[in-house]
Amino acid sequence: MAIIPIRIAPDPVLRQKSKRVRFIDSSINKLINDMLETMRFASGAGLAAPQIGIPLRVIVIGLPEQKDICLINPQIVRKRGERLVTEGCLSIPGYRGEVKRSVSVTAKGQDRSGKEIRIKAEELLAQVLEHEIDHLNGVLYVDKLESMDKLHKLEPEEAQL
Ligand code: CO
Repeated sequence: MAIIPIRIAPDPVLRQKSKRVRFIDSSINKLINDMLETMRFASGAGLAAPQIGIPLRVIVIGLPEQKDICLINPQIVRKRGERLVTEGCLSIPGYRGEVKRSVSVTAKGQDRSGKEIRIKAEELLAQVLEHEIDHLNGVLYVDKLESMDKLHKLEPEEAQL
């Protein structure tokens, strides 16, 4: 496993639409291991492959007291409700902003063995799923701010997505 430098906006890879993973082979497994290690090292709650320069549809999520999640070719298949949340991103260090996210979502994708899985998520996990899947479409949370005064300087130790 390796810690990979995180790409920072306005790196163009963050604006690319990432490609679907066709074969879950050893290179994808290595990518997932590197993403997990990089996310933990950066104290992030989640990471998408383009953030380490690989435009493939792979995300990892690591929330306190929950098992780490990795999802290949993830998709939101259902979302409910709306709430205002404060959010940050490892690719936009030093800032947080207020955006609207769903209260709950259902996501589907494949796990690292290729099995189709579905995740029903609420609140923070739903938020992180939406945030990381946005990355795969070249979307950053700052795109969703109602105005720039919804963007604030970050408190040092807060977790980033
Ligand atoms: Co992010």
